[in-house]
Amino acid sequence: MSLTPIKQLLQSAEIGQTVTVKGWVRTKRESKNAIFIAINDGSTIHTIQAVTEPGRFSEDVIRLVTTGACVAITGTMVESQGSGQRVEVQATDIHVYGPADPDKYPLQPKKHSLEFLREIAHLRPRTNTFSAVLRIRHALAFAVHKYFNDNGFYYLHTPIITASDAEGAGEMFRVTTLDLNNLPRTEEGAIDYKQDFFGREANLTVSGQLEGELGALALSKIYTFGPTFRAENSNTTRHLAEFWMIEPEMAFYELEDNMNLAEDFLKYLVGYALENCIDDLKFLESRLIDEEKAKPQAERSPMPLLEKLRFVHENEFERVTYTEAIDILLKSKPHKEKKFQYPVGWGVDLQSEHERFLVEKHFKKPVILTNYPREIKSFYMKQDEDSSAAPGPTVRAMDVLFPGIGEIIGGSQREDNYEKLLARVHEVGIDPANIWWFLETRQFGSAPHSGFGLGFERLILFVTGMGNIRDVIPFPRTPKSADF
Ligand code: 4AD
Ligand code: MG
Repeated sequence: MSLTPIKQLLQSAEIGQTVTVKGWVRTKRESKNAIFIAINDGSTIHTIQAVTEPGRFSEDVIRLVTTGACVAITGTMVESQGSGQRVEVQATDIHVYGPADPDKYPLQPKKHSLEFLREIAHLRPRTNTFSAVLRIRHALAFAVHKYFNDNGFYYLHTPIITASDAEGAGEMFRVTTLDLNNLPRTEEGAIDYKQDFFGREANLTVSGQLEGELGALALSKIYTFGPTFRAENSNTTRHLAEFWMIEPEMAFYELEDNMNLAEDFLKYLVGYALENCIDDLKFLESRLIDEEKAKPQAERSPMPLLEKLRFVHENEFERVTYTEAIDILLKSKPHKEKKFQYPVGWGVDLQSEHERFLVEKHFKKPVILTNYPREIKSFYMKQDEDSSAAPGPTVRAMDVLFPGIGEIIGGSQREDNYEKLLARVHEVGIDPANIWWFLETRQFGSAPHSGFGLGFERLILFVTGMGNIRDVIPFPRTPKSADF
């Protein structure tokens, strides 16, 4: 059976054509002379309207056609009498696949808070907002693969279960089949992981980078795109315990090449959304404008969504070193007026309030911050030559900071010198035996190389203008929450 999606019917169905529409009823409106049924099948933000006159179908059928019910309506395409749509379906047959009890169906046609919708994540894809977000999410996932494929990168599948902590932050979920009520012990009384499934401790990955580097040092340009897990107990609008990360890794790229790629990639993705998701973006923009009316002036975003996306698409990102950024922050008004919650000074890890000041208030555009202090970055980053430009040792790190988001990308050039890398591994307390394979690539054909990680949900947050990362992934996992 061929079924034409509503998106296509609205665009190109011919008058007089017989069509069948299958989808979920958004609204039913009954007047003296006509019954109007708005149907959506998720192929577009728009609904198609089916029309019939009272009495044509049995009361029993019409009664079941309520908001949330799943229906198949066959009929003739006619020019719409009402405004708002070009065509509508004059119904000749109505079949109800699944009714939805109007006293119980939670998605009645009215405004629902995003918090409420999170509690009904099994139904929220049926709302305009979430279906728009999910379609954009799909388009951008496709665009990620397209960009890399078009640019000579290979998609490398890195493991989800690993034995190493790539970021060294100890924020890992353990993977085990041991009986937690009866743990095997060694003679010294420690848990005996030799008896565990993998014969050693194992976790869910926090990043595919270490394996990604192995791929790059053979295929030259690779990327990973997969689920990533972090047991950080940060209940913020920017953190998930399970998120998707895109990690390209390139042999022969130095820090500047890495920055160029990150900027080009982000602009491509934003441009792809502008070109392919305009109906959904327009819907989300108008939703945001409504929402912002309720906010105090100071908290409103300075640009409507589409303008913001075009701005990022068309303007160069600002490139500054961490040391320069600290200078700017130290001279800033909020620092002088003690408005920042966290301290500022060379050596501190920048907090999101600092990142957002730089991006939203100072530069007013995306910023790539580079050459961070070595002590606050991961062990694998390439160490800079000592220079008088910074008060302490730095590494060839880069973070891309976006308006409204803060850090969207984290990356670096990698330490390719075996001795320096090994020294750093010892310094930060990693057992070299755990990553002997990673270290060995620096002994066999080492090469300068670089890469970065883009948080996919942070990208979707930016493109959709949504305010909470829980609302841009179908089924969010956060501390104390893994329903659905
Ligand atoms: O800066 P991060 O920790 O970098 C890495 O994991 C590197 N191994 C990447 C690389 O060089 N290949 O994470 C990268 C990005 C962040 O900039 C952020 O966008 C996202 O991943 N991210 C999160 N997104 C949602 N929830 C979380 N808990 C996230 N933690 C990081
Ligand atoms: Mg980071």
